[in-house]
Amino acid sequence: MSAQRIVSGIQPTGDLHLGNYLGAIRRWVRMQDALPPGGSAFYFLADLHAITVQNDPAKLRGAVREMAATLIAAGIDPTRSTLFNQARIPAHAELGWLLNCTARMGWLNRMTQFKEKSGKDREGASVGLFAYPVLQAADVLLYQATHVPVGEDQKQHLELARDIAAKFNNDFGEEVFTLPEPLVSEEAPRVMSLRDGSAKMSKSDPSDMSRVNLTDDPDAIAQKFRKARTDAPPLPDDPALLEDRPEARNLVRLYAALEDGSASDVLARFAGQGFGVFKPALAELTIETLRPIRARLQTLLADPGEIDRQLRDGAERAAAAAEPTLNRAYQVLGLHRR
Ligand code: TYM
Repeated sequence: MSAQRIVSGIQPTGDLHLGNYLGAIRRWVRMQDALPPGGSAFYFLADLHAITVQNDPAKLRGAVREMAATLIAAGIDPTRSTLFNQARIPAHAELGWLLNCTARMGWLNRMTQFKEKSGKDREGASVGLFAYPVLQAADVLLYQATHVPVGEDQKQHLELARDIAAKFNNDFGEEVFTLPEPLVSEEAPRVMSLRDGSAKMSKSDPSDMSRVNLTDDPDAIAQKFRKARTDAPPLPDDPALLEDRPEARNLVRLYAALEDGSASDVLARFAGQGFGVFKPALAELTIETLRPIRARLQTLLADPGEIDRQLRDGAERAAAAAEPTLNRAYQVLGLHRR
């Protein structure tokens, strides 16, 4: 059994929201804190992925630093985890290219995220957006990831990464890549929008009212929950009765995830109550959970030079860790690299 190697990434676009936090980042932190002997964790800002759609260079420059600060504020410790931004490490783009030659058009044609993001304008989408999942495969295979903690929306991409790794190993007759295991959050696999229970909470939703950002102040959080879409009936005593009430179910699940409990526990307390009682309680719990993160973030953002230093340091360690696998991949392909 190889040692645990955790790898995961987040796009530095917009603010980190409650979906990212409960679906992925809180798990990153917990896995970092519980690393077994010999284990290691690599967490990165996927800035090369961020340019696959419309890009504002001035915003991206600041966003990488801010997202790194938010991750640190949320509990990622750059001395225990390797924290870096993808663009500093050419090996990601290099392995991405090599794997483009292993991945099949038919596999990528099945990716639902490409279909969602390209929408009705497939012909006008960038080639980068189409090849996005191959770069994502490179991100994890480069480090011999064993476990990749993600939200449910990334599961298909990780399954593709496994297929690419298996085909590459098989085509060239060598175990160059470890097959990574996606770990989807059990308590918050898919946090939904506060405005629409059928859409996921997302950084790219044009309405800021659809999500709670980790940077939101208490008043903003209270207002977002007050205005969150719901239905009229009071809360039931059984989670099964929320099945066809997507907005109510989302809020109950959010409460449960925030307090690390189950929907049944939440309903045991709130059954028979309306949203006039439940929403302020949920807002309060969210505000208290995010309060220390916001406070740490403000301190960190006061010293941007220190964040940049930490990112450069992380990139150095990541580049060294990536080197042997990249070399091996070039070699088995018959390419001269060095
Ligand atoms: P991104 O930036 O969209 O999201 C970062 C992480 O947050 C999870 N997530 C959610 N979980 C629950 N509910 C939600 N509403 C929600 N929204 C987002 C995502 O599943 C993800 O785990 N392609 C990736 C970034 C990436 C990556 C990688 C991830 C690039 N390379 C390699 C893992 C491994 C993305 O766009 O995530």
